[in-house]
Amino acid sequence: MALLEVEQLGVRFMRRDGPPLTVVHDVSFALEAGGTLGIVGESGSGKSQTVMAMLGLLALNGRAHGHARFRGDDLLAMKPGALNRIRGDRIAMIFQDPMTSLNPFLTIERQMTESLQRHRKLTRRAARTRAIEALERVRIPDAARRIGLYPHEFSGGMRQRVLIATALMMEPDVLIADEPTTALDVTVQAQIMALLREMNRERGTAILLITHDMGVVAELCDDVMVMYAGRAVEKASATSLFNSPLHPYTVGLLGALPRLDAPGGAPLRTIAGNPPLPGSGGQGCAFAPRCAQAFERCHQETPLLRASGARERACHLPAPVARGAHA
Ligand SMILES: Nc1ncnc2c1ncn2[C@@H]1O[C@H](COP(=O)(O)OP(=O)(O)OP(=O)(O)O)[C@@H](O)[C@H]1O
Ligand code: SF4
Ligand SMILES: [Mg+2]
Repeated sequence: MALLEVEQLGVRFMRRDGPPLTVVHDVSFALEAGGTLGIVGESGSGKSQTVMAMLGLLALNGRAHGHARFRGDDLLAMKPGALNRIRGDRIAMIFQDPMTSLNPFLTIERQMTESLQRHRKLTRRAARTRAIEALERVRIPDAARRIGLYPHEFSGGMRQRVLIATALMMEPDVLIADEPTTALDVTVQAQIMALLREMNRERGTAILLITHDMGVVAELCDDVMVMYAGRAVEKASATSLFNSPLHPYTVGLLGALPRLDAPGGAPLRTIAGNPPLPGSGGQGCAFAPRCAQAFERCHQETPLLRASGARERACHLPAPVARGAHA
């Protein structure tokens, strides 16, 4: 049994002025204990709402269906109290903007020790010692003094490190990181990625990393799920996906990677056109308007995710012939 097993997860948002808007369509994936899975896709493809739905954090007008089993228990069917105990304890989260998870009116010490006191029943003093150790592990200088500061007294990179330290000290089974480095400059990005890798390799924490950046996935993830317009369009190991992407959208995303090996760096290519707005598409493949290989069937029938060797993709093109046993 996988540590986290998401099955046919869907998300709809109710609207006052129209029918409900489906933004995630029956997405399934699994994260093994100690594994690393990247969810990639352009803005609006449903990456964040997928994990928000799993954790019961959708906006009030949001409705989730399907299953998200953590150690066999369905998070979607759990009572709020039980879900709260798992969140922030066995499953930790960090977001793109650390301020969304930090309370501006409480010191870092209060915010870090609160989880330990609540979930681990530590005394305030023991919790403080544990929190300072965690801040030192993420290389916050002078942690014993800085722990008494407020979030606004930290830089963006430091705040993100505080959240990682909070996750580290709880020793969760799963860390969900939603665009954890997007708001940070390149040097800080590299440090944060190194910390996530360390957490995975040394502590065996499973990581679910959400990003629109294939480079970030290449650095950390064993497996990848590519999302487009609320659907999973390709699933594969990172190695096979980078070596031979099977879905035209993945090919486009990889083409949009900056060529670090090119002399002087090649300009970033992007995929022409824009992803559809939720609710705007009719039948057929949502990628068809941007796909150079689209043919008649693509405009009539939505492709389903199907196995192609050890991988899965949702595309009407004939499956390519596997190049070797591990295609
Ligand atoms: N409360 C809401 N009501 C209606 N639509 C919403 C609501 N919250 C999110 N959406 C829509 O759901 C869709 C999926 O959003 P989501 O946040 O999952 O995208 P994403 O892939 O995480 O994008 P990004 O890379 O920009 O973070 C978007 O079109 C968004 O506008
Ligand atoms: S189903 Fe058709 S339009 Fe969609 S990605 Fe495949 S070839 Fe392109
Ligand atoms: Mg998002």
